[in-house]
Amino acid sequence: TDAHTTGPFIAAIDQGTTSSRCIVFDKDGRIVAVDQKEHEQIFPKPGWVEHDAAEIWTNVQEVVAGAIEKAGITSADVKAIGITNQRETTLLWDKNTGEPVHNALVWQDTRTDALCRELGRNVGQDRFRRETGLPLASYFAGPKARWLIDNVEGLRERAEAGDILFGTMDSWVIWNLTGGVNGGVHVTDVTNASRTMLMNLHTMAWDEKILSSMKLPAAMLPEIRSSAEVYGHAKGGVLDGVPVASALGDQQAALFGQTCFSEGEAKSTYGTGTFMLMNTGDKPVNSYNGLLTTVGYQIGDQKPVYALEGSIAVTGSLVQWMRDQMGLIKSAAEIETLASSVEDNGGAYFVPAFSGLFAPYWRSDARGVITGLTRYVTKAHIARAVLEATAWQTREITDAMTKDSGVELAALKVDGGMTSNNLLMQTISDFTDAPVVRPMVAETTCLGAAYAAGLAVGFWSSTDELRANWRRAAEWTPRMDADQREREYKSWLKAVERSMGWLD
Ligand code: G3P
Repeated sequence: TDAHTTGPFIAAIDQGTTSSRCIVFDKDGRIVAVDQKEHEQIFPKPGWVEHDAAEIWTNVQEVVAGAIEKAGITSADVKAIGITNQRETTLLWDKNTGEPVHNALVWQDTRTDALCRELGRNVGQDRFRRETGLPLASYFAGPKARWLIDNVEGLRERAEAGDILFGTMDSWVIWNLTGGVNGGVHVTDVTNASRTMLMNLHTMAWDEKILSSMKLPAAMLPEIRSSAEVYGHAKGGVLDGVPVASALGDQQAALFGQTCFSEGEAKSTYGTGTFMLMNTGDKPVNSYNGLLTTVGYQIGDQKPVYALEGSIAVTGSLVQWMRDQMGLIKSAAEIETLASSVEDNGGAYFVPAFSGLFAPYWRSDARGVITGLTRYVTKAHIARAVLEATAWQTREITDAMTKDSGVELAALKVDGGMTSNNLLMQTISDFTDAPVVRPMVAETTCLGAAYAAGLAVGFWSSTDELRANWRRAAEWTPRMDADQREREYKSWLKAVERSMGWLD
């Protein structure tokens, strides 16, 4: 039935926030095998989130071996490996031993809040926006690296001596995959580098002025490369000898996997957080409405493609929190059943500002609130408010996107784990007043990394060939009365106001 199951194939590794996975794809972009493993979420203090990078590397090796075994193939059948990853999560490690000097600081971690405010003192949150496209916020990697340098004893001296390597998770995985202490390559790609707040968006090089403002030793930085080229070859393991040929931050990989190759095309990925990216072509577009300017992708020596991004910190992780911390549901899927058991939210609004608020507000002093509580409210109404929080935050982002780009949203292409929730998808369509469409392969993050790696080694010939693989699987259209939508939106915005101002 399947002409391509005899191969050859591309393997993609997605090192995500909650798990690492490996997916093997065939030439039609269809999934041949998947393996996945979760890692521990470490919460040492309120607002702090860490990962054990050694555990993550062990898991990556396991899922690669697992996926190759499930596919029933060998390294000879795999033409390239693509890498995609949770962005901004920051690690420093010793290049002589391969040991991390500290747990990785996860993108959701807010411990650099005071440092960011200090960096912005007298100049404001947009101090580095012209160069980097980003506001000063605890989300980004540069200040996290500075926190590590300041707080791990003796680290500054070791880093200045050239013994320490900095990296986001793409760099960590590629360095280990290509040999680690035995000659591993220390690189990152333009998309991941664009999230450090250290790269100049116009030159695609580390910005020396910013490095010195942040007091970061340049010696520890990886080389910045395109998103699709051969960085090196896997050394050891089941894929020994296979070219490592792409790296993209997971949200940029999803943009690529959704084949948003033309200016104005956009996607929204519903995972731990939610991130909407719109391709803006070969020029970086400034945002005046709280969005980020970022690199979308760069294929080899072609011009880089830029994107506008609306980042929402907490969406899927709110459902996990309802399950793990509150115990109100037993499985993530149960949120839909529970929310569907009532007609509406009973007046309750839930603003999940667990990591402060990201786009369009960029307020690290925000914390989660539930408003509108009366004795009438049940856990089913709260479940509904949980799903609506994702939909209202999407609406805020689509509004900002429309204002910044001048492009009216014709349809919203979605992907990610939460898109299996029908009630959520309908609510998003209702609140944004736009059709929502989901492609056949919802694993667009891995698919994008595979596409980029496949292009780099000539497995696929062009982005046009990739476009032909995109197929619609489901569509939701708006059904909500306009007056009601705008009334409820006002209540949401009131709740958002209440979430701010909880830190001095
Ligand atoms: O910027 C953070 C983002 O890359 C994390 O994505 O899918 O791991 O929640 P995800």
